[in-house]
Amino acid sequence: MRVLGVESSCDETSAAVISSRGDDATLDSLVILSQDVHAIFGGVVPEIASRAHLAAVAPVVRRALADARCALGEVDAIGVTNGPGLVGALLVGVSFAKALAASLGVPVIGVNHLEGHLFATALEDGAAVPPFTALLASGGHTMLLDVPAWGEYRLLGATRDDAAGEAFDKTAKLLGLPYPGGRHIEALAKEGDPSRFRFPRPMLHGGQRAGDADYYDVSFSGLKTAVLHAVRDAERRGALDEERPHLARAFQDALVETLAAKTVRAAVEKGRTRVVLGGGVACNAALVSAVRERVRAQIGGDAAVFAPSPRLATDNAAMIARAALFHLARGERSDLSLNAFSSMPLA
Ligand code: KG4
Ligand code: ZN
Repeated sequence: MRVLGVESSCDETSAAVISSRGDDATLDSLVILSQDVHAIFGGVVPEIASRAHLAAVAPVVRRALADARCALGEVDAIGVTNGPGLVGALLVGVSFAKALAASLGVPVIGVNHLEGHLFATALEDGAAVPPFTALLASGGHTMLLDVPAWGEYRLLGATRDDAAGEAFDKTAKLLGLPYPGGRHIEALAKEGDPSRFRFPRPMLHGGQRAGDADYYDVSFSGLKTAVLHAVRDAERRGALDEERPHLARAFQDALVETLAAKTVRAAVEKGRTRVVLGGGVACNAALVSAVRERVRAQIGGDAAVFAPSPRLATDNAAMIARAALFHLARGERSDLSLNAFSSMPLA
């Protein structure tokens, strides 16, 4: 069975083809077209994103099919992200997928973008399957989930304000780095002295107990404000250029320690030996190694941490096709009334 995936929830137009044999799925092709235009504005402009998806979606799908050597007539089903995301952007992918499915006479299935992120690692590693603890950290979401089985998602905690990627992007802006800023902060932080600054670890303190409202939740707006004050102080001293790597390092250390501590806390509490990371922030090597170290120390040698390769961590259609395959195997289908939603709960 061959599934075509389509993703257009934010600023990436993406299409992918996967093949399945039983429980096994292999990635035949993946095309991701990133809309660089938003860098000029320092953030995604929804109207521009929708128009760019409209121009790109047909050629991107055509290219994914060609790369997979898959003729249109060989597509057995289409999976498409229908939320959460920018509604105008989502509608481009949803309308395209519905029209193509109708013309080919194959089923279409709407996929929750967040569920897609949970499936990303499974495409690369057959062991990245439930039960596991999941940390989804992207530009729009930061969620900690307990996943006893595919299709069963229990929300343990989330951010109370900024998403982790958003915190990276806003901090990058404060430091005068390009958008999106996550990878620029990571690169700069490598040259930073970890002892030069220390920022508070938000919502992470001794004495927290299971059941406390802040046990699994995170918050990054206070951290961002702490960076802002340190940046202003460095500017006053005329020392921002030399302090920039140290500030990036201190910010990343605070955010990473908070996310890693809460993720492993959840795994220990729920008795999970697998941890799956997803979303653009999972590209951050410091985060992945911090989670690995904590898992090793607190759970032990038989525990495993799975992080997707950067191409599958950020927004892509391969993960959407993989999640679609799971729902199709359960006999689920959408129909032509399939709509797009800006918010769409996963749990
Ligand atoms: O999952 P994604 O591609 O899109 C959303 O659904 O939001 O995530 C994009 C986010 C951006 O905020 C970006 O700065 C962040 O992921 N990101 C990173 C890194 N690479 C991308 N954050 C930290 N370190 C990185 N290496
Ligand atoms: Zn995403």
